[in-house]
Amino acid sequence: MTRIFIQGGTVVSATGSQLLDVLVDDETIVAVLQPGSTALGDPAAAATVIDATGKYVIPGGVDAHTHMQLPFGGTEASDTFETGTRAAAWGGTTTIVDFAVQKPGERVQDTLALWHGKAAGQCAIDYGFHQIIGDVNAESLAGMAELVSEGVTSFKLFMAYPGVFYSDDGQILRAMQQAGDLGALLMMHAENGIAIDVLVEQALQRGDTAPYFHGTSRPWELEEEATHRAIMLAQVTGAPLYVVHVSAKQALEQIATARGRGQNVFGETCPQYLYLSLEEQLGAPGFEGAKWVCSTPLRAREQGHQDELWRYIRTGDVTSVATDHCPFCLKDQKELGLGDFSKIPNGIGGVEHRMDLMFQGVKDGRISLERWVDVCCTTPARMFGMYPRKGVISPGADADIVVYDPNGHTSIGVGKTHHMNMDYSAYEGFEIDGRVDTVISRGRVIVDNGAYLGRAGHGRFVKRALSQNLI
Ligand code: URP
Ligand code: ZN
Ligand code: ZN
Ligand code: ZN
Repeated sequence: MTRIFIQGGTVVSATGSQLLDVLVDDETIVAVLQPGSTALGDPAAAATVIDATGKYVIPGGVDAHTHMQLPFGGTEASDTFETGTRAAAWGGTTTIVDFAVQKPGERVQDTLALWHGKAAGQCAIDYGFHQIIGDVNAESLAGMAELVSEGVTSFKLFMAYPGVFYSDDGQILRAMQQAGDLGALLMMHAENGIAIDVLVEQALQRGDTAPYFHGTSRPWELEEEATHRAIMLAQVTGAPLYVVHVSAKQALEQIATARGRGQNVFGETCPQYLYLSLEEQLGAPGFEGAKWVCSTPLRAREQGHQDELWRYIRTGDVTSVATDHCPFCLKDQKELGLGDFSKIPNGIGGVEHRMDLMFQGVKDGRISLERWVDVCCTTPARMFGMYPRKGVISPGADADIVVYDPNGHTSIGVGKTHHMNMDYSAYEGFEIDGRVDTVISRGRVIVDNGAYLGRAGHGRFVKRALSQNLI
């Protein structure tokens, strides 16, 4: 038996913070003790004693939205499961949920097997899968039931990307009915892709080819409209709905209104939508804005989306914060869209920075310490059927633990100070008033004071249950 004792820290949960010691045996948290307690023997005799005095002891981060090595936009996301999960570990994330992708004509069971093959033996931290349904038909609807029994209990549909992942309203309705019957969670990319494609074509015809016009051809109205439509379709079917990567305040207002009516609708946002903007990043000179081309797009700061999104985290209408980590290098990948923004592969990498960026929200007085843990760890674990194994520090839970130093500092510097496989950082120049000190994944110290001790293959597939406590 390998025992780890974390001493003197403040254990933070979604509901409160307390000075407590934490005892880990092998892969599992066995006790959370009053400081100095010797109830389970002499803690100092543990193989590893971590002094967490003055620091926060939090559940390992759960990033429920990543795309390692996703084939997309004529290329492939630049982080593999190996490099991406290592970067996640550096940043205090100990579980990711990535997406297996079904394209038209494929069997969902086959695509899931393909994604298992990509991840198996490669991951530094635990991982699960959602399934993207890119072809809603009788066979894939039946396949959803099979996937649920294999621990893939959530499904993403797209109202955007006609000809790639797009589903029409009838297909969405059917998939929602099936998800509802199975007790699975339906995730939605809510943007009106049919209308967007017209605006994109018109922008290019006008000669508006720079990255900035990616943003203006995906206006907030078409996110609000699709969000509203998805909510209404979900209401008709009675199925719960999880709207991914929400960037428009108006879309969140739709979610908040539905929640106010008692509908089971949940919003996810991402750090890029809280910190970055259409004007400053997408509108950067020349081709630079390509670094921040993602969908939904970054929104105008002058319209106040960023502040409103923070507010919706406080009110609970944003239930979780994920990264939508989908990195592409500038060289040769983003550059596919030189002279035509519609050919820039969509996505931003950030799996390494989520815990820090959201902690900065605590330091800035935007959210509480407990809300930080809730939206980054506990609720994602709960909503995606991993609680209480993940997302909480309590006896019986997997020993996924981060010791976080609120007095430390993290510079997201110019050049390669990060560990993601990207030739730039979307958050270059950001200074964070906090630092990930120690990261434990299922009882193994994988990051310790700037040293990486993890290994590919430590991470295991998490067979997820159905979502819990969705109301
Ligand atoms: O731009 C994005 N978000 N790329 C990843 C794919 C998706 O839609 O989540
Ligand atoms: Zn999406
Ligand atoms: Zn309406
Ligand atoms: Zn995504």
